[in-house]
Amino acid sequence: MTQTEEMLSELALAAAAAEGRLAAADSLEAVTAAEREVLGRRSVMAEAKKSLGGLDPDRRRDAGRAVNQVRERLEAAAGRARARLAEAARAARYESERLDLTERLNPIRRGRLHLVTQARDRLEDVFVGMGFTVVEGPEVETAWYNFEALNIPEWHPARGEFDTIFVNLGQPEEVMLRSHTSPVQIRTMEARRPPIYVVAPGRTFRADTADATHLPAFSQIEGLVVDRGITMGDLAGTIDEFVKAFFGGEVKSRLRPSYFPFTEPSAEFDISRPDGSWLELGGCGMVHPQVLSNCGIDPEEWQGFAFGFGIDRLAVMRYGLDDIRELVNNDVRFLRQF
Ligand code: PHE
Repeated sequence: MTQTEEMLSELALAAAAAEGRLAAADSLEAVTAAEREVLGRRSVMAEAKKSLGGLDPDRRRDAGRAVNQVRERLEAAAGRARARLAEAARAARYESERLDLTERLNPIRRGRLHLVTQARDRLEDVFVGMGFTVVEGPEVETAWYNFEALNIPEWHPARGEFDTIFVNLGQPEEVMLRSHTSPVQIRTMEARRPPIYVVAPGRTFRADTADATHLPAFSQIEGLVVDRGITMGDLAGTIDEFVKAFFGGEVKSRLRPSYFPFTEPSAEFDISRPDGSWLELGGCGMVHPQVLSNCGIDPEEWQGFAFGFGIDRLAVMRYGLDDIRELVNNDVRFLRQF
């Protein structure tokens, strides 16, 4: 074997080994190192090139071509290794920046409106369907709106019956959590001229201990009509209509004589239960002339009726609960049924 042949076969061996390392290289540094080893200064390749100088022209051309082919092959192999590493780096970056937008396949549990909210919404719908509009008033009231303007002066025994929760503001017993929605009657008549057809739902408060039929914080809905020629018959008819619309045809209503300082005459109204007994729902009556005057409405020209009843009680009745406290226990297993 001539010296050149020997040198060329050594080159081929070194190139094959370098190609193997390039194919396996796992970093850019490894690629460069493998490349430098065969192609760099003082490499087998550099030695081979140097030795070409001593050959005669014909052999030099053939040997030179062989050396060039080896170089080209190695350069191509290094190029492929670099491309492969760049691709892997890009894939790794995409993976780390990936957002998971996969759709959820397990069903999402939906929340729902509380039983009392559902009852309140339904009541509003029924009354709106009868031509009423919905108004609201504040939950913290003054003695004027909660009592005085409603014909309950300070000395009146009815004040005691309300078990009012007072707020420590102003004069003693001057500011309170409203004990009924009737103050919204006053606010409405102060703000609007008749004819008035409104309902006012909202929360009310009394210093009651919770039991199966009472809650210290409960909800009422107030109704107020002021127009010309309004009679007790309009009141009875309105209550009957609403009960039918809310419960369906089977439930009946009745009025029983009663007393409220702000209505005259006054009544309490009951609804019939499936077992034939009656459930007391609320109070009502013809708006007292003094109350109309308190709001600057002439009782000679205008008459009205008003009613107010508990929304929670209605929900208890409609959904057949046996304890009103179920409404505020916040037991999701209970609430989820409705
Ligand atoms: N506000 C009364 C109560 O809470 C109910 C009522 C309202 C009575 C309207 C008559 C007229 O007991």
